[in-house]
Amino acid sequence: MPAKLQLRAPLWLLLLLLLLPGLPAAQGQGAVASAHPMATEAGIAVLADGGNAFDAAVTVAAVLAVVEPYSSGMGGGGFWLLHRASDGFEVMLDGRERAPLAAHRDLYLNDQGEVVPGLSVNGPLSAGIPGQPAALVHLAARYGRLPLAQTLAPAIRIAREGFPVDEHYRRLADWRLQQLLQWPSSSAQFLVDNQVPPLGAIIRQPQLADTLSRIAEQGHDGFYRGPVAQRLVEGVKAAGGIWQLKDLAEYQVVEREPIRGEYHGMKITSAAPPSSGGIVLVSMLNQLSQFDLSSYSPVIRKHLIVEAMRRAYRDRADYLGDPDFVSMPVARLIDPDYAAGLARDIQLDAATPSRHRPPGSLTEGHDTTHYSIIDAEGNRVSATLSVNYPFGSCFVAPGTGVLLNDEMDDFSARPGVPNVYGLVGGEANAIAPGKRMLSSMTPTFVETEQGVAVLGTPGGSRIISMLLHGILSLDAGEGPQAWVTRPRYHHQYLPDLIQFEPGALSVEEQQQLQAMGHQLKPLDSTYGNMQALFWNREDGRLSGASDPRGIGETLVK
Ligand code: DON
Repeated sequence: MPAKLQLRAPLWLLLLLLLLPGLPAAQGQGAVASAHPMATEAGIAVLADGGNAFDAAVTVAAVLAVVEPYSSGMGGGGFWLLHRASDGFEVMLDGRERAPLAAHRDLYLNDQGEVVPGLSVNGPLSAGIPGQPAALVHLAARYGRLPLAQTLAPAIRIAREGFPVDEHYRRLADWRLQQLLQWPSSSAQFLVDNQVPPLGAIIRQPQLADTLSRIAEQGHDGFYRGPVAQRLVEGVKAAGGIWQLKDLAEYQVVEREPIRGEYHGMKITSAAPPSSGGIVLVSMLNQLSQFDLSSYSPVIRKHLIVEAMRRAYRDRADYLGDPDFVSMPVARLIDPDYAAGLARDIQLDAATPSRHRPPGSLTEGHDTTHYSIIDAEGNRVSATLSVNYPFGSCFVAPGTGVLLNDEMDDFSARPGVPNVYGLVGGEANAIAPGKRMLSSMTPTFVETEQGVAVLGTPGGSRIISMLLHGILSLDAGEGPQAWVTRPRYHHQYLPDLIQFEPGALSVEEQQQLQAMGHQLKPLDSTYGNMQALFWNREDGRLSGASDPRGIGETLVK
């Protein structure tokens, strides 16, 4: 070969490789979809300043902790699903809360062995040891490019200067007003004159700003050791909780291998235990791949989807918990052959009754939060974070500005007794010292032939079925706006009923489903707050959408 050609070959090869699909080629700086415009804008600014998706993920989570205190925060936890473009490495950061070391399986039972109402959802006894601060420090140190001083700066500034109250805030503060009023530290931070703040009132959180600054300066230890840890423990104990300094000192983020599955050639990557999300999602999709959904009428299609939900949620109740404490048949649960077995007794014209257990008291969830980020290099983050109920436990540890979660309610307080989302569980999800409570949070990636979707949502037990609806919409060729907008329906095995949003089932469909033996529960409001992005690898275009049910914003730059 002539010398000239030998020299040119690598350049020619490089150009060809750059044109091949699958290589990082997102146009512009990237995209962020989150539940609050201030968080989305701060995330985009970090991308513009040279940060990668992981840096932006730190910023977005921290700003959400300030402006959406009812959804997530430094006193809560979550799951961050990461994809690194340079080598395709994928991991789930498990920043889930843990039960305090002084917790025990009967923590919420009275002398008669009955669950004491409210104990696992209100006040400091309901709070698990927070994971979000540890997760953000880990995310920045291991995957980010910028210092925490830079990525936490927007949250610190907004905590100090304040943010204006919107309708969503007012609604949720009103819903939790009585509990917020229990604690002077909480009412001072979130209410005005002990009332729901008026629209546009400015909420300033100087103590939270100080706590965030300590984390920016000292990293992990800024929260889990020293004065912040001390104040957290003192505050919790004085108010009847059971935290100890060693609970905080021992907290560690865990890197977990995501759950993977396939549906119609799409590659699903999703949350691993202690989230039930990925397993239940893949199980539902595996069951549905036994049917050619497009060949059935809309009502039969819905019936089949409900039956797949029923079976996957039953396995959730029976098998799933913290992988560090219980052994679970994960490989089996996500095996297509196992799902084929589950689907075998689905009848086309009749509901399969769930085994009888007491019906749960389903509540409407509007808290927890999700955001999705893709940067120009193709790095991506899908993160769902939570303090559980709106405003978590409603308890702010005095002097810290940190609102504590009430994630302890996600444990099964007693086998078969439903939690606030109507979910039942057994031994696998019983309380134990240091154990992580089972979650439904389902941050997910879906890779199609054309590109990559990054999506997730809050919504308690309904999170996983919302992801299913989103993925079925993607499979039907629809875009992000449809994934986040489609009316939703849900079944979780127990209670044995189909809950549905206004407009999700026509009157005729409702009659037909009832005739098949389904019980229906029409909801008077909508649920969920999905944030979704799509990166079309064919043309490099990024697009996305924020759920019209919330106040979120998607920006593509
Ligand atoms: O981890 C879980 O499954 C729950 N703590 C999530 C709560 C939630 O999504 C509430 N939102 N509406």
